[in-house]
Amino acid sequence: MIPKAAPVITVDGASGTGKGTVSQLVATQLGWKLLDSGALYRVLALAAQKHSVALDHEKALDVLAEYLDVQFIAQLNDFPLVILEGEEVTGTIRTEIIGNAASIVAALPAVRAALLSRQRAFREYPGLVADGRDMGTVVFPDAELKIFLFASPEERALRRYNQLKERGVSVNLGDLIKELQERDKRDQERIVAPLKPANDAICIDTNRLSVEDVVERIVREIQGKKAFPAISELNLEFGMAE
Ligand code: C5P
Repeated sequence: MIPKAAPVITVDGASGTGKGTVSQLVATQLGWKLLDSGALYRVLALAAQKHSVALDHEKALDVLAEYLDVQFIAQLNDFPLVILEGEEVTGTIRTEIIGNAASIVAALPAVRAALLSRQRAFREYPGLVADGRDMGTVVFPDAELKIFLFASPEERALRRYNQLKERGVSVNLGDLIKELQERDKRDQERIVAPLKPANDAICIDTNRLSVEDVVERIVREIQGKKAFPAISELNLEFGMAE
């Protein structure tokens, strides 16, 4: 008998919709694995910078992606540590420059193909929460639950602005909105795996919702799904017993 693949929840959306934080919280509550697929594209962009590979050199980036020496080390109640070629790069990959470079390499079909099996390898028992742009459409089309988060560019830029301000980084809100819109355009208009909700995704408008509200909404979806009988029994752990 072929063993059933581990269950997957996909959380897709544009930058600044909060999908990273939401996914991490849902994965922690379930005790499931977490795939931050954007981090893979970010690490590849950083590796390209490190090895002086141009962001439009598809062949070289394909090889770099294939042999990318990256590790994600899970941490309790926190985002995983990211290690590139033995060096910790968890914070380094989070800059706007690397985010933009990631969206340029992510538009290359050979790069996406090279990273596909690496992403699917994260699917392990007891389950996986996968966040990105094409988790529900391309990487895990058979996911048990697909979520798509959206919010206006202004709201997303404001969240990013506050995040950076908290870290002591000063940025211009207008520049952030412009950068976000450019990145959205590149992610939505690329030929392969463009940013869009899967046909069977549940779309959540996060404009007026806190992270906790979104997590609660997703938990309710999980509890309502017959595909997750074992999880539905975890109601008490979610603190949502009625
Ligand atoms: O989600 P994050 O902002 O870290 O992603 C960085 C970039 O990587 C995105 O702008 C997008 O272009 C790309 N990406 C992608 N597909 C994914 C995840 C991220 O194309 N599944």
